Amino acid sequence: MAVLNVNIDHIATVRQARHADEPDPVWAAAECELAGANGITTHLRQDRRHINDRDVQVLKETIVSKFNLEMSMEEEIVRIAEGIEPQQVTLVPEKRAELTTEGGLDCVSCGARLKEVVRRMHARGILVSAFIVPEKEQIAAAARFGCDAIELHTGQYANAKTEKDIYQHLKWLEAGRDLGIKKGMIVHAGHGLTYRNIGPIAAMEDLSELNIGHSIIARSMFVGIREATIEMIRLIDKFGKH
Ligand code: PXP
Repeated sequence: MAVLNVNIDHIATVRQARHADEPDPVWAAAECELAGANGITTHLRQDRRHINDRDVQVLKETIVSKFNLEMSMEEEIVRIAEGIEPQQVTLVPEKRAELTTEGGLDCVSCGARLKEVVRRMHARGILVSAFIVPEKEQIAAAARFGCDAIELHTGQYANAKTEKDIYQHLKWLEAGRDLGIKKGMIVHAGHGLTYRNIGPIAAMEDLSELNIGHSIIARSMFVGIREATIEMIRLIDKFGKH
């Protein structure tokens, strides 16, 4: 059964709306941990639009669960990861104008850089996950260049409108999971997952971690982040029991 990493970026998004010092992502991380989250995920973007350098430093010192740092493969950010040493990095593509991470990392075309980043992370004992769409070539490239894990992009599943479309995306994700496991990698999933669409993903066997942000942070405005996290874990557990 999969476990939950809460992506707390949007706590920092609210803080940055006023360039203030609250709400504090470090406090949010502790609340998620008290709710039973497996880990905390944050994306240190090059434009620092939400999480900043100090956040990742303090989070590294205070997180008692798993710290999963999402990041691009830009040299500046890679060096920060080497200094911070989170337990895991999830490599993502990054575009300046995007609202959130769009598409997956192209492991085929950035192979040489991927191999180099994997080597540098492994030198510090950091697990490497690549955020990819479940295409065979991408999965094979992630394995070839040494990734320990892949995070399957669930965005298209989340956006699917018809039952047929939803079914097809689930089958595609399942095939990606199977190939990832066959290639010896751990398989995670995330993006666009909500309290409403989590069921079939939580029910999918052999997914290790689910990374969920926006939906949990949105709900937390009404019920608090500890309760919002508990509710998501409850759903994952309920659908994940076979
Ligand atoms: N996984 C990855 C790699 C992401 O980039 C994001 C968004 O930051 C998420 C998961 C979480 O997506 P959402 O906020 O839609 O739950």
